[in-house]
Amino acid sequence: MPLVLVFRIAFPHSIIMSKRVVVLPGDGIGPEVMYPAIEAIEAVTDEIEFESHLFGGASIDVHGEPLTDETLEACLEADAVLLGAVGGPKWDPVDSLENDSPRPEQGLLRLRKAMNVYANLRPVYASPHLYDKSPLKNKRVAGTEFTIVRELTSGIYYGKKELVGDTASDECVYTRAEIEQVAHVAFTLAKLKAGKVTSVDKANVLETSRLWRQVVGEVGKNYDIELEHMLADTAFAKLIDNPKHFDVILTDNLFGDLLSDAAAPIAGSLGLMPSMSLGQRGEKESILCEPIHGSAPDIAGQNKANPIGMIWAAGWMLHQLKLDDVGFKLEKATKQTIADGVWTPDLDGKATTEMVADSILANLKQV
Ligand code: NAD
Ligand code: IPM
Ligand code: MN
Repeated sequence: MPLVLVFRIAFPHSIIMSKRVVVLPGDGIGPEVMYPAIEAIEAVTDEIEFESHLFGGASIDVHGEPLTDETLEACLEADAVLLGAVGGPKWDPVDSLENDSPRPEQGLLRLRKAMNVYANLRPVYASPHLYDKSPLKNKRVAGTEFTIVRELTSGIYYGKKELVGDTASDECVYTRAEIEQVAHVAFTLAKLKAGKVTSVDKANVLETSRLWRQVVGEVGKNYDIELEHMLADTAFAKLIDNPKHFDVILTDNLFGDLLSDAAAPIAGSLGLMPSMSLGQRGEKESILCEPIHGSAPDIAGQNKANPIGMIWAAGWMLHQLKLDDVGFKLEKATKQTIADGVWTPDLDGKATTEMVADSILANLKQV
């Protein structure tokens, strides 16, 4: 079985023993999945010092803003940040267009930008134990294993936003440098995985995509890696028709967000999907690990959330912090729990979040 989460992108590392990790549980199921992840890490290593902060809606309720300067400072100083999820109906701007009260998601975007985590890696791995959970036929899903490299700190998420009367606009801007830096990550990853890069854009319509295609092609010339360009609409169809086609998908902020949620059911459930965002500020590496799912208000507080995406994100963080032994242990124990059929309702199982967490803790003693 391929250990998909083990590919460390070469960023500089600080050489200290104990690692400081800022924990941002966030809202909804965020804290529910974060707790088992911390428990699992603490069961295998005492080399991590945790520092927890309010984030998202939880921070708005107390401080009036989703990310305080103090929390941001702690994140920037830490060796890595572990994030649950933010958001929820309580903070959604539903009453009127004029409502400009702070939103949890703004904190997330500010954090990503400030940490300069421009490359967001989202692996999609179909475990044979979960082929039947996929909406795709077994023969289509079997062997699916690819990673989406999503540009995370630019594009339409960060362009000028305006609402004037009955007209609204969101600007999408990309620079050559922004495309280059994320493209290098995708090609490096493809080299590690001995696979090809599929760059997804909408170059038949968007200027940003035309620049994207040009720059990705130029960066690709530095690598002995196959590169194909694919239009985003075609890529979504290909994802459903033949997910095995992909090794590394390189795409912009918005397409990457959509493609990764669309890919999740293929592997079994959104609740299984981890992500790691990388970048650097000067000499310092930035590491931000989180599941790709949100705060799931529909199941929050019911002990139903699947903690595996969060726990895999934590395991991946350990690898990136060069704690490979413990990262492997977390990954192996979690895979055993999946193999044992200890599944939450999103996988059609009957297990609670706590039961999955307990199973992983028990398996950690055997690995
Ligand atoms: P969501 O990802 O929270 O939930 C979508 C569906 O997947 C729901 O049915 C939910 O129950 C299910 N689901 C998600 N995670 C699960 C898990 N771990 N186990 C079992 N089932 C799970 O998306 P949404 O409902 O569209 O958004 C809810 C809120 O979350 C919004 O405010 C949104 O902005 C926010 N959000 C935050 C993040 C983040 O913090 N990174 C990511 C996505 C959405
Ligand atoms: C994600 C989320 C975020 C995004 C939201 C909550 C801002 O959907 O991490 O995928 O769109 O990036
Ligand atoms: Mn998303």
